[in-house]
Amino acid sequence: MVFSRMTTVATIQEAGTLQETEDRMRAKLAGIVPEFEIGLKAELAFEINRLKHERNAVILGHNYMEPALYHSVPDYVGDSLELSRISAQTEADIIVFCGVLFMAETAKVLNPDKTVLIPSDKAGCSLAEGITARDVGLLRERFPGAPVVSYVNTYADVKAESDYCCTSGNGDAVIRHLLNEGHTKVIFVPDEFLARNTARELAIPFVEGWKPDSVEDAARLECAIIGWGARCVVHDLFTADDVMAVRKQFPSAILLAHPECRPEVIELVDLTGGTKKMVEFVRQSKAGQFMLFTECSMADNIAAENPDKEMIRLCSHRCPYMATITLEDTLKALQNIQYKVELSPEIISRARLPLDRMLEIR
Ligand code: 13P
Ligand code: SF4
Repeated sequence: MVFSRMTTVATIQEAGTLQETEDRMRAKLAGIVPEFEIGLKAELAFEINRLKHERNAVILGHNYMEPALYHSVPDYVGDSLELSRISAQTEADIIVFCGVLFMAETAKVLNPDKTVLIPSDKAGCSLAEGITARDVGLLRERFPGAPVVSYVNTYADVKAESDYCCTSGNGDAVIRHLLNEGHTKVIFVPDEFLARNTARELAIPFVEGWKPDSVEDAARLECAIIGWGARCVVHDLFTADDVMAVRKQFPSAILLAHPECRPEVIELVDLTGGTKKMVEFVRQSKAGQFMLFTECSMADNIAAENPDKEMIRLCSHRCPYMATITLEDTLKALQNIQYKVELSPEIISRARLPLDRMLEIR
């Protein structure tokens, strides 16, 4: 299996000196991060990489990390699905998850003997906070027999109540798998828009499962995806007017959107996909200009990696949770072994099956 390993970011054996760390960061980030800041960040990155080696830790960085962090300390970068696969397989003693809590929890469930650290105790997610295990119980009562698919952006107790998990990279494949098994109603939580967009892609009706009269709505349908009403605070901001305005201003740009965006946004863009699909599309495309309707640090990270491509940049769509993960706190995480992700053995064992199923389906 090939993961996107950060060959530009070396471990301490390869890094050698602070100067080399700084030179490598400058080569990558010139034009993205101001010179003086690279100097400051390189000192932190050097110390993090030194400690990472000393403590036999691996650092995983989600695609939404800020560019100086993304391009300096992670051993692996990627989307939720790739990072889950790596966490399941790593032999390091410590996993430092530069992402948000539900991702670090997933790493703990998949590799429970490891110490899993998240550098901030404020790295939540509006989707994960938008549903509880009790809500899943309520949906099961309303729609008996319908399997529950939880987007990976949920906390471990919700996963423990689910039959399958999925990410933005394989949600459609998981639902298709369940339909092929003969299910006609599938509960897909918690992201309203991801569920609506998946239903549209699979040409299946969508039912608003959070409403009491949804039971009658579903009963009238032969086949349906039953959703929940949680939304991503970042992707919910984009509107169809935004897309049309960008089209007018940048007629030759390719527009890409994350499936957590509103359906009317998805209808107007050129490509929809999770963060991995967007990164790969820009990397392989022969076009010269792109705009991503997603968290704004990702365009900076792609720009740093593809200096020949122009990314139309946003700065007001930063995920407030991802933004709490800094180089400063990543260093503290390794120095103080904080913040440890702790889950009960019962939750770990119940959340494992839906996550294993998620990793099996592509
Ligand atoms: P990906 O699974 O596409 O990496 O996205 C995670 C996320 O939190 C999107 O907002
Ligand atoms: Fe959650 Fe949205 Fe932030 Fe992703 S961008 S972590 S879905 S709040």
